[in-house]
Amino acid sequence: MDYHSYEDLLANNKRWVAERLGEDPDYFAKLAQGQQPPFLYIGCSDSRKPLNTMTQTKPGEVFIHRNIANQVSLTDMNLLSVLEYAIETLKVKHVIVCGHQNCGGIEAAYRGTATGLVENWVTPIKDLCVVHREELDALPDDAARLNRLAELNVLSQVRNVLKTSVVHKAVKQGTLPRLHGWIFQINSGLIYELKLPVAEWKALGLLPDDYPA
Ligand code: CO
Repeated sequence: MDYHSYEDLLANNKRWVAERLGEDPDYFAKLAQGQQPPFLYIGCSDSRKPLNTMTQTKPGEVFIHRNIANQVSLTDMNLLSVLEYAIETLKVKHVIVCGHQNCGGIEAAYRGTATGLVENWVTPIKDLCVVHREELDALPDDAARLNRLAELNVLSQVRNVLKTSVVHKAVKQGTLPRLHGWIFQINSGLIYELKLPVAEWKALGLLPDDYPA
């Protein structure tokens, strides 16, 4: 794989600025006025899934939070602050949790190879392996199990979004954004959307009855 040198990054930035100003002399003046992105994206830190490139979104369109294996932890002040700011101040219309195939965090949890702090961080994924052992064991090979685990992880993290006080408040105020679970397939570049168990989550009281099916 070809990599840029460190100096390239700053040179590329200058060229990008020149290109933007060539298209619109007020481009950065407009950006500086503020943001009102309709999307909050919670994704994995993996360097192979740069959201703006993958979805052709521009600066100002997506509020972003990333961590290893796109976790929504109810004790993570970083994530919770991002979620609160996105919902209450930016008033995003959609919250997207995006996992991906070939995720190192998922694989480390599955194989028990994570060490140090990452080992702690991926514990919720290890728990998913235990809870869904039967379903995972029935799959033909490890590749299929890892892909399914990536999906189960995304569904679990969307469910965690619904357990936050921020979301409970939004439900009461009728300002709950639409929720989405995505998987990015590194080998094809395509993103697919998971079907959320909306009826089940309504029955559990996690989603309001009037949430669209
Ligand atoms: Co990953």
